[in-house]
Amino acid sequence: MLKDKQVVLGVTGGIAAYKAVELLRLLTKAGANVHVIMTRAAQEFVTPLTFQTLSANPVHTELFNLIAEREIGHIALADRADLGVIAPATANVIGKIAAGIADDMLTTTIMATKAPVVIAPAMNVNMYTNPIYRDNEDKLRRHGYLFVPPVRGALACGWEGDGKLAAPEAVFEAAVAALSRHDYNGQTIMVTAGPTREELDPVRFISNHSSGKMGYALARAAQYRGARVILVSGPVNLTPPSGVELVAVESAGEMHAAVMGRAGECTAIIKAAAVADYRPAERSGAKIKKKGAELSLQLVKTPDILAELGRLAKAPFLVGFAAETGKLSEFATRKLHEKNVDMIVANDVSQSDAGFNVDTNRVRLFFRDGREVDCALMTKDDLANVILDHVASALRLLQNS
Ligand code: CTP
Repeated sequence: MLKDKQVVLGVTGGIAAYKAVELLRLLTKAGANVHVIMTRAAQEFVTPLTFQTLSANPVHTELFNLIAEREIGHIALADRADLGVIAPATANVIGKIAAGIADDMLTTTIMATKAPVVIAPAMNVNMYTNPIYRDNEDKLRRHGYLFVPPVRGALACGWEGDGKLAAPEAVFEAAVAALSRHDYNGQTIMVTAGPTREELDPVRFISNHSSGKMGYALARAAQYRGARVILVSGPVNLTPPSGVELVAVESAGEMHAAVMGRAGECTAIIKAAAVADYRPAERSGAKIKKKGAELSLQLVKTPDILAELGRLAKAPFLVGFAAETGKLSEFATRKLHEKNVDMIVANDVSQSDAGFNVDTNRVRLFFRDGREVDCALMTKDDLANVILDHVASALRLLQNS
């Protein structure tokens, strides 16, 4: 996701400095080359060696270090950076940048870079609400600095309130968003994800193996690319990306109501959910007791949400999924035409590295004009971006990266 991106990670002095270690791990895992700059106060909380070991790069602590100066010069980092992140950012460092003070390696680099900068503040609640701090943050926001607001919680100073550093995952997501193309700015994209559950009684249901990973990857990628995202999700064990509008549903009937109710707001709807095709004709109010050797269940069809969207007079751009165990082309093309959708993402779920419950997928894309595009095995995050590239080009969204 961040392959070969040069990220400058600034760590300032606060108890939350240890969380920057986790953030560094997320950044490097996503492929970024991270250069850590620590202020003097930050080194009181975590040692430079920790960051050096995990980033595999020297940690910068001083403005005029003789070796670093000879090798890169103190402005070179600023020039080389694709992104700057300060986490945790104290009121002090934010105040300095807002006032144009560049008196250490971090403030000098941040002021000298033309790359986007993400700032994740962490401080005492009264400092955070102090009008001087508020002015500084507002000023930096006006100049294009991006903020990941702190969260509410028990603060190290003993107070309770806003001021706790946002979770490393939230800062990471803001970093990826800052580096993404923003071709979906102003668009509303709905993604459905996960399985549905059709209840038989208060303790049993019919469902399927869908993990929701593909749908959540699509929601995350669309959000990074600037879309307002409505994520209609069946029951899954995944954390929704911060900032998406989550509509949690259980059954196909609930998903149907949620999708149809908001379809009019959307530029595109991507139906990655594995919706149950049938539900029990009746839901027993009490637990069904064991009786004879056999039990027959009567099932009735659930509404086909995608097909109903395809019948709308003014349908958004529609992307359907087809999970098949054979005859991929034939079934996918049939679904494309029968459900009247713009694009089908088809995969053979009988392969162990594609489909349910794995992080990778291998799909073929089918379009209305008869085009077929084979996609190699890739992560669901990468595939989400490939799908969004095709949707964007069909919608002729501006590629203003
Ligand atoms: N879908 C839907 N509502 C349903 C069933 C499916 O919206 N009641 C959508 C899925 O979200 C997916 C597409 O239709 O985008 C195809 O789903 P799939 O289960 O592969 O196909 P079905 O139409 O259910 O056909 P079959 O199960 O016979 O393959």
